[in-house]
Amino acid sequence: MFKATAQACANIALIKYWGKRNQAFNIPATDSLSLTLDKLTTTSTIEFSDKFTADTLSLNDTPLIKDARLTMWLDIVRKKADCTQYASVSSTNHFPTASGLASSASAYASLTVAATHALKLNLSIQEQSDLARQGSASAARSLLGGLVLLPSGTDPQGKDSVAVAIDDCSDWDIAMIIVVINHGKMKSMSSRDAMNHCAKTSPLYQCWLDTTSSDIKQAKQAIAQRNLNTLGTIMEHNTFAMHGAAWASRPPVRYATPATIAVLDSVNELRKQNIDCYITMDAGPHVKILTTHKHIDAVENRLKTITGVTEIITSGVGKHAALV
Ligand code: DP6
Repeated sequence: MFKATAQACANIALIKYWGKRNQAFNIPATDSLSLTLDKLTTTSTIEFSDKFTADTLSLNDTPLIKDARLTMWLDIVRKKADCTQYASVSSTNHFPTASGLASSASAYASLTVAATHALKLNLSIQEQSDLARQGSASAARSLLGGLVLLPSGTDPQGKDSVAVAIDDCSDWDIAMIIVVINHGKMKSMSSRDAMNHCAKTSPLYQCWLDTTSSDIKQAKQAIAQRNLNTLGTIMEHNTFAMHGAAWASRPPVRYATPATIAVLDSVNELRKQNIDCYITMDAGPHVKILTTHKHIDAVENRLKTITGVTEIITSGVGKHAALV
């Protein structure tokens, strides 16, 4: 039977991937560094069979019409396995679906583990990473636990753009608070569309590319020294550099809402009270706060007073993706 189920955790980039050096193989233009989160997981089941007449996807038990991106990725998997069968895919996010939190990382990471197992493809972890990246680059990072580096590499087909676990954080007390913010009427542009638009139209895109390698270097040093203040500071700088480049796109790509800004202000105030907490933001209005367990209550209590904050999810460090 060509069927398997796997689970993977989402991850949040501390140093972002924002732009590609190759579209066909979905290769990031810069290195990125992320933290895998144990509270945000996706479980995916995949079945390949002669009885199917098309690829189908159901997300959180709701059947979706057609997913061209998924079919393109399935074609890559099928080619590797010399398989001609269509697939039935079902994916469930174990975090609030209305939250607008990106799930492509945990989805494609869980699908990579499930699909390669279902088709009995004996891939190395590097080959799995290469495959996950072609679904969604951030998914390569979700295959692994702890702090994970995804290099841009130099190979034209991205064979060296494969994720590496750099630290399991077992001796470091860090936590991530996900602050879910009400979108209101705003419709967010997907990270894929937004980064491509930014690369094409933003005069600050090249500055963004130029700043990342030094951010990665400083972040790695801070991690080695277990220095949350330095890591948090460089993470914030990197976030604002990414969003600055996005704001300068034509037309601009802006995700922050008034509630987003209120959260940023609160984090600044908390820091003045010696509470170690630092923000990062992705392709949405939500804010993610890096902190330590002893500060979680103080941060959560402050966040609860902000209008527009609809949910607060506190997560520890997650492990690698695995078969269920
Ligand atoms: C802002 O991995 O979703 O979250 O490779 O096109 O699927 P594709 O993009 P995706 O982009 C993530 C962008 C980000 C930053 C990050 O996670 O590094």
